[in-house]
Amino acid sequence: MPQQPLVPPRLIAHRGLSARAPENTLAAVRAAHEAGCRWVELDVQLLGDGTPVIWHDRDVSRCSNGRGRLVDLDIAQAGQLDAGSWFAAEFAGEPMATLESMLTLIDELAMGLNLELKVNRGRDPEALVECVLPPLLEALPAERLIVSSFDATALTQARRQAPAGRLPLGALFERIPRDWAARCAAIDAYSVHADWRRLRAPRAHDIVQSGHALLCYTANDPAAFTTRWEWGVHGVISDDPSRFAVHPPRSGD
Ligand code: G3P
Ligand code: MG
Repeated sequence: MPQQPLVPPRLIAHRGLSARAPENTLAAVRAAHEAGCRWVELDVQLLGDGTPVIWHDRDVSRCSNGRGRLVDLDIAQAGQLDAGSWFAAEFAGEPMATLESMLTLIDELAMGLNLELKVNRGRDPEALVECVLPPLLEALPAERLIVSSFDATALTQARRQAPAGRLPLGALFERIPRDWAARCAAIDAYSVHADWRRLRAPRAHDIVQSGHALLCYTANDPAAFTTRWEWGVHGVISDDPSRFAVHPPRSGD
């Protein structure tokens, strides 16, 4: 567990405030901050030249004016892309964010970051961790950071590079496996990140009782989510967390 107490974040903007701004961009993080959200979830991957960038997909076609795989681009080529127009004209010219530019913004805004190590098909999890962790640990304190991944190799490598007190890790699951506790123990996990639709009450109870933070993705319907709060879920990762703000605010929200 971190030396500084990390309060489990209750509201986390998924890919930034992706309901209102192009996902995973600086604009989406600014929008989350303006909406009063203190934490964002963002995806990180490597370009072909090893530059870490904030991006979800394996290729650039859905969220930019370009085409092709991320791995086939270097920073000069990626820097030419418009990653905002696909969402709305007002975001025309929004660049693909590098991890470096994003960390500068997050620090300026004093926000918390749940950084997801996104290991898309064919990519090397260890190379991703090697490139991402040094600047990340340099930029943010443990009380404003959770690094998560679906990829066990990435999480294991991240733990090798930093102790639990310095780097809170989150185990991401589509479906919580029977051996979730052993998997969490193996990486000294801080949190479990569960698909809110697939989570069941007994498993939620076990996770909360274990002392891990329990965060759910990606929920956008506060009424449907009510039972999850009742089960003890600590936080929700949402495209628009302001929809959940009617729930009693708590210190750290
Ligand atoms: O970290 C939670 C969520 O972002 C995982 O799924 O595909 O939106 O990155 P995805
Ligand atoms: Mg993600």
